[in-house]
Amino acid sequence: MNKRGFFITFEGIDGSGKTIQSKLLFDYLTSKGIDVILTREPGGTNGAEQIRSIILTGSVNRWEPITESLLFLSSRSDHWLKKIKPALDNGKIVICDRFQDSSVVYQGICKGVDIKFLNYIYENVTNNRQPDKTFLIDIEPNISISRSIARENSETRFEKIDMSFHEKARESFLKIAKQNERFTIIDGNKPIGKIREIIAQKTLDII
Ligand code: TYD
Repeated sequence: MNKRGFFITFEGIDGSGKTIQSKLLFDYLTSKGIDVILTREPGGTNGAEQIRSIILTGSVNRWEPITESLLFLSSRSDHWLKKIKPALDNGKIVICDRFQDSSVVYQGICKGVDIKFLNYIYENVTNNRQPDKTFLIDIEPNISISRSIARENSETRFEKIDMSFHEKARESFLKIAKQNERFTIIDGNKPIGKIREIIAQKTLDII
């Protein structure tokens, strides 16, 4: 493992299966004796988890898009500076469930916040370090959203948004994935075990 560490992110619409797949990749790499951490956004540190709870609970319109963007970026800043960057600097593999691409898709493309503004803050926080690999789990919203609603927790502010929003998010993720070589697009309809295998193999090829 080189000293730069290796940064892997998972993206996809709610209920796409990215959370389980990030966990499965973490378990796989750990079983191979590889030094890896698993984390998530929004959240990942105490401060960022506190911000998470105010972002994701309450009514759909609780936050204006710009306010919401700043909350996500505050949470990302704490997470990056206190957890992700130190781990990468120690040469570890970091797996993160969602990251800046989610802000570009949800706050930027779907809710109209200036993407240059979102990236400007991101670049200042991270010195523009990008993920080394991003797995996009692609799935139709009518399958994924029913899965995520069935999960029954209080973090439902985004799931309550109508289906056309999730459609747009899916299309936007696909669009940015096709423009950027760091992405691998995975068919989220495949069985969990098959997706796990594809991701594990791809990861072993590049780390
Ligand atoms: P997440 O916990 O990943 O939910 P799920 O496991 O159901 O996919 O993310 C919560 C919500 O936050 C999700 O609807 C996407 C949204 N989100 C943004 O809008 N912008 C962001 O920058 C991030 C990280 C998440």
